[in-house]
Amino acid sequence: MKKVIEVLANREELIARSLAIVLSQIDTAIAERGICTIAAAGGSTPEPLYKALVAEDLPWDKIYVFWGDERYVAPEHPDSNQRMARLAWLDRVNIPASNIHPMPTGAADPAADASAYQTELQQFFKISDGEFPAFDIILLGIGDDAHTASLFPGTPALQVRDALVTVGNKDGQPRITFTVPLINRARCVIFMVAGASKQPALAQIFAPAADEMTYPARLVQPEGELWWLLDSAAGEAVK
Ligand code: 6PG
Repeated sequence: MKKVIEVLANREELIARSLAIVLSQIDTAIAERGICTIAAAGGSTPEPLYKALVAEDLPWDKIYVFWGDERYVAPEHPDSNQRMARLAWLDRVNIPASNIHPMPTGAADPAADASAYQTELQQFFKISDGEFPAFDIILLGIGDDAHTASLFPGTPALQVRDALVTVGNKDGQPRITFTVPLINRARCVIFMVAGASKQPALAQIFAPAADEMTYPARLVQPEGELWWLLDSAAGEAVK
């Protein structure tokens, strides 16, 4: 694993840096394997990155978009991570609809939807039960509680090792989320973290030792590159 922590001057610089890394990973993935697979994050921090991608002249037919987690709401709901990424990015570029793989949320049964998304991933990557595909890029954020994707402190989702996708739990509300072993197979994980409210969580995530069940982002240790991009307010935590 190559791990890099960068503190950028402000949110604009954070977005510019994340864009540069994403573009470089897209180039490499397409050059080496012909396609690039990206897992999008929810939350507010990556939205300007999605908007910035619209201006890029990319081979969109070779880019496949998934989500690392999703709120358990309909696709048109304001809380939907899919909706945010579509409005900011995917509806505004020439990407084939079949390249977009949202997490399903319509079964009225989060476990069934998690399982359906796992099957979709297995079919896309042509893998069997027990195998884990390597995403080219997984975008992530953290919450003030050190959750990432929908892996919340103290929840059973943190301990799932035999599935690609599982049910997360935010204060009793179900979510759909990538599991730790799926995230950790990635070729490149990019955390985008902004704001002073993230400092205490970052201090625990970067501490030499701390409880992973309490600070779930510590569990992210990918086989590929791990980028922590912080704005200066969040970056106070690593001074
Ligand atoms: C979500 C997430 C979540 C998010 C963090 C950071 O769906 O909410 O994927 O893990 O990345 O909560 O959110 P902000 O970017 O809004 O701080």
